[in-house]
Amino acid sequence: MIITPLTKLLGIRVPVVQGGMQWVGVPRLAAAVSEAGGLGILTALTQPNPDALRTAIHETRKLTSRPFGVNITLLPSINPPDYEGYARAAVEEGVTIFETAGNNPGPLIKFFKSNGCIVLHKCTTIRHAKSAERLGVDALSIDGFECAGHPGEEDIGGLVLLARAVKELKIPFIASGGIADGRGFAAALSLGAAVSTRFMCTVESPIHQNIKDKIVASTETDTVHIFRTLNNTARVFKNKVSLEVVAMERRPGGAKFEDVRELVSGTRGRKVYENGDPDYGIWSAGIAVGLIDDVPTCQDLVGKLEREVEEIIAQMGKLVQIQSKL
Ligand SMILES: Cc1cc2nc3c(=O)[nH]c(=O)nc-3n(C[C@H](O)[C@H](O)[C@H](O)COP(=O)(O)O)c2cc1C
Repeated sequence: MIITPLTKLLGIRVPVVQGGMQWVGVPRLAAAVSEAGGLGILTALTQPNPDALRTAIHETRKLTSRPFGVNITLLPSINPPDYEGYARAAVEEGVTIFETAGNNPGPLIKFFKSNGCIVLHKCTTIRHAKSAERLGVDALSIDGFECAGHPGEEDIGGLVLLARAVKELKIPFIASGGIADGRGFAAALSLGAAVSTRFMCTVESPIHQNIKDKIVASTETDTVHIFRTLNNTARVFKNKVSLEVVAMERRPGGAKFEDVRELVSGTRGRKVYENGDPDYGIWSAGIAVGLIDDVPTCQDLVGKLEREVEEIIAQMGKLVQIQSKL
């Protein structure tokens, strides 16, 4: 067993967190990850309204009695969702672990902390990590540039970002971005790891089998950044639609959000997971796709991560030899 401050803080057996995933972080997946010993996370905004989140929480509880969390992602939006309503609903339903991500999380963090909850805040810069620390979060999830979804605008890879985090942060943090197997997990293991793209490709993940097969067939060169020129970078799967968005951003004069709105619509992206057509819309994926070559159950995946990390740590221990002073 691997015991870290994270396993103690969250009451989980394996220090693996399934990070929030829009349209993917649903009860079946979150419960399966928690049942396997990690921390499953429901993605609040995947539910159409706070009441639907309540139902999702009930459904998750029917599937697991182990701890699970709720992710609330604050992103720039023309019509902001009812973040407060989602947060209140989850707290009223007894959820005590939250993953927050995105802009201006202060009020949300304050609300969760005043209700005695544990808050894990996701950041892509040390500056943001420090302000979340000042806001009183319990732990941070440090997302390197390898990650799926929003890597921020400063492009710092995980190795450097995490080394800086060790030096600068006082509170515990987990590593996130590009971790999909025991090697990445072992490298991250000062505390634990957040793993997302890998969990998309499990039996319990709610996405269409064709998309799981597509991920298995992909390499680390199959993702691309969109919205770089709009200062809202997102790493997504490289397909017809994302390449068209990038081409529009690169044309003389660039592109405004209005020009790409139809191409990047969330509804089209969601359809990909339902109809199994990888070219139907924009969908998030990290470069960890290059490390994925099967579709295991969450139980088998977390068990394998645990075994691999133990083997690697044991092997690494053998690299250190005490030199005789004689
Ligand atoms: C399909 C998908 C959807 C995601 N949606 C969200 C989201 O809604 N909110 C969020 O905070 N992070 C989201 N992420 C980012 C993950 O929580 C995590 O930070 C990142 O994917 C870690 O990198 P990895 O995929 O290489 O493990 C998403 C990731 C994926 C793969």
